[in-house]
Amino acid sequence: MQNLSNFIRRRDFISLHDFTTEEIKILLDVAGELKRMQKLGIAHPYLQGKTLAMIFQKSSTRTRVAFEVGMYQLGGCALFLNPRDIQLGRGEAIKDTAMVLSRMVDGIMIRTFAHEEVLELARWADVPVINGLTDLLHPTQVLGDMLTIKEHKGKLQGLKLTFLGDGNNVAHSLLFGGAKMGMDVVVSSPGGFEPDKNILAAAQEDALKTKSVLTVEKDLQKAIAGADVVYTDVWASMGQEETAGDKEKHFTDYQLNSKLLSLAKPDAIVLHCLPAKRGKEITDEVMDGPQSVIMDEAENRLHAHKAIMALLM
Ligand code: CP
Ligand code: NVA
Repeated sequence: MQNLSNFIRRRDFISLHDFTTEEIKILLDVAGELKRMQKLGIAHPYLQGKTLAMIFQKSSTRTRVAFEVGMYQLGGCALFLNPRDIQLGRGEAIKDTAMVLSRMVDGIMIRTFAHEEVLELARWADVPVINGLTDLLHPTQVLGDMLTIKEHKGKLQGLKLTFLGDGNNVAHSLLFGGAKMGMDVVVSSPGGFEPDKNILAAAQEDALKTKSVLTVEKDLQKAIAGADVVYTDVWASMGQEETAGDKEKHFTDYQLNSKLLSLAKPDAIVLHCLPAKRGKEITDEVMDGPQSVIMDEAENRLHAHKAIMALLM
């Protein structure tokens, strides 16, 4: 850690697209090392005396707990800021919030709707800003996912990950993560719910360097054949709950059930960022089955977030 003291220090963590393959590799290595230390009970107070402010405009279980517990384990402290209680919720400008918080804390994590709000916060903050999910991206999730895949498969490069369902924030960050790390990513979505074209194009540029292949494939059988990792997420993300009912009919074929999973490699692992709607995008049988590493994935948010904070702050 000491040798890495100036590595990505004070950078923002807004998208995996902003980091090099080498930087992501180091983030993953540090996450693995922090996990090892925590399991062995070796103290690792790299952020003693530091504070992280956490702004949540949307609900969270994993992200909040992982940042809060992670900060505690690193010897620092995390502040949970609910927009209902802070002045941001009454219309105080993001710019002013960013400048004020920068005078008091060492890092700001934000989960919000419009991605532009995170960019605006980062523009005015003097401390690192961490994207804890926007409508567009979920990069801290995918760092934890890549740690999980690496643990179970021993590598990322050359694997095939198939994402089934809505071409959403998680799908977008998986495209960036896969492209940076040389992992092939196939997104299989019903017509009209494919990933954002601009995100795909930006990820394709990254993929040229690592030779990873990124594909949008409507045909489910083709998409899942030979997959090493099968990933799914809710069909309606936070903020889209009202349209969930209408959306559902387009997605029923994309349910990750045992029959569909049997088309992937026999040793394929199953990921889901959670929270899941059991019986909708994933069956109980798959979620609780032998190929599921979903709880390892949830735990790895803690270790991944700790690596982000320890290196940035
Ligand atoms: N996967 C994830 O980000 O979970 P939370 O919404 O509970 O933070
Ligand atoms: N796509 C989901 C991810 C939740 C962690 C959402 O945005 O609600």
